[in-house]
This record gives sequence, structure tokens and C-alpha cells, in this order.
Amino acid sequence: MGVYQLFDHEDFGDIAFQQVVKAVNDNHRPNPTIIFPTGGTPEPLYTRIAELRSFFPMFDYINLDQYYGIEYDDPRSYPFEIEQKLLKALKLKPDLQLVFNATAQANHECHRIENAIRHAGGIDIAVIGIGPNGHIAFNEPKTDFNTRAHLVDLTPETIAANQKYCAQFGGVPPQALTLGLGTIMEAKKIILLTNKPEITLRALHGSVTTDVPASVLQRHPNLTVVATPQVGAKLRLAA
Ligand code: F6R
Repeated sequence: MGVYQLFDHEDFGDIAFQQVVKAVNDNHRPNPTIIFPTGGTPEPLYTRIAELRSFFPMFDYINLDQYYGIEYDDPRSYPFEIEQKLLKALKLKPDLQLVFNATAQANHECHRIENAIRHAGGIDIAVIGIGPNGHIAFNEPKTDFNTRAHLVDLTPETIAANQKYCAQFGGVPPQALTLGLGTIMEAKKIILLTNKPEITLRALHGSVTTDVPASVLQRHPNLTVVATPQVGAKLRLAA
């Protein structure tokens, strides 16, 4: 089991906010590069950031993942969702955003994103979620721990889990572009946001295996877990 710091509280948005701001302050770059995830889990964080926007430091946004083959402003688009829920409130300029173009040739696009991350000096802070099958970003079970940005065939489990967000807009696209596990693990700081007790326990206290992609986080030297009280209780029992 790796070492991580755990913060859990009823007010999930507030503790997540505090941890992200702390990570930015601990990082000594004036405009750190930050990854933010989409989905249901981070919503309280984005609400809190929007409420306290004048206290939130400036940063460069890096897109974590995106369905392949859709336009930027498709209602299912992840970077569009982040723009609507977060970046607009912060008035972050488009030139501070590094986003997958999901209509470009996939390999070319993945190289472009990896090069741009390198050029930006790497990822300072990766805020991520965890899927019911243990995926992080769209790195599905069996993904090699060293992968860089790549095109993924989504598993039936992920497609089923994400229908709640996409059904009314034509369904979950079958493929996605994602930063790789190797790319994410190079972030100086990782903040895992989780409301899923069972899979989080397996990821952080079970064996490190590609069956549970998030288990690679046990190898990260600077991991903070922001959890709901239910998850926190489970993790504490296992520690
Ligand atoms: C989304 C992402 C995914 C989600 C995960 C959990 O950008 O990277 O890995 O974090 O699927 O989604 P929710 O929070 O909706 O349960």
C-alpha cells in the first residue's frame, strides 16, 4: 500500500476546494498546469470554485480526456463541460487551455498533446476521478501503466455508467482520447476525488494491478485523496 493523505467531510466541495488551492500554493510556479476531471464527482468542487472565484489562483488548464469524433461544443464534450462549469466563471483565457481536438487524426492529436504538456514543463497538479471499474481518465482495465495519451475503445461498463450523462444527446461515443497512466503519474501532485467506497478501497489498498488502473496511484509519491465520509470510513478501517 502506498502512502496518501486523506481528507473526508460532508462538505465535499469545500474540502476539495481547500486541497486544490493548497496544491496550487505549494507549487512554486506562478501559473501551474492543472488537469480537472468531468463527471458527477467534481461538481461540488466546481460550484465552490465558482462561488469563491476571486480567491482561486490563475492556472493553465490541461484537458484530461474527451470522447472521440465529437465537436468541441457537443453537449457530451468534456472540455466544453469544464469550460461551462469552471473556466467561464474564472474567465480563463483560451490560450491558457490545452484541449484534445476530437475530430483530428487520433495519433497525431495524442502526440500534439504530449508535446504541448512537455513544452509547458509537465503537469503540476492532476485532479482526477475514479470510474466504477477503477479507470482513471479513460484508462480502462488492462491498460499498461506506462501509456501516454492514446485512443481508447471504451468498455461496456464505462459506456453503461456514462449513459446518464449522454443518453439524451445520442448516447456515449464508443471511443475516447485520454491522457495515459504514464502521463498522469508524472504529475507532481495528484488529487483523487472519490465518492466510490468499494473500488477506491481496492485501488488504494489492494494489489497494484492493471485490472484496477487506479491502483497505480499507490506508486505516486504525492497523492491526496478527497473523499466522501462513506469512502473515508472504509479507507480508515483498511489503513
Ligand atoms: C472524466 C474522467 C473519468 C471520471 C470517472 C468518474 O473526465 O476522467 O475517469 O472521473 O468516470 O465519473 P463520475 O464522477 O461521474 O462518477
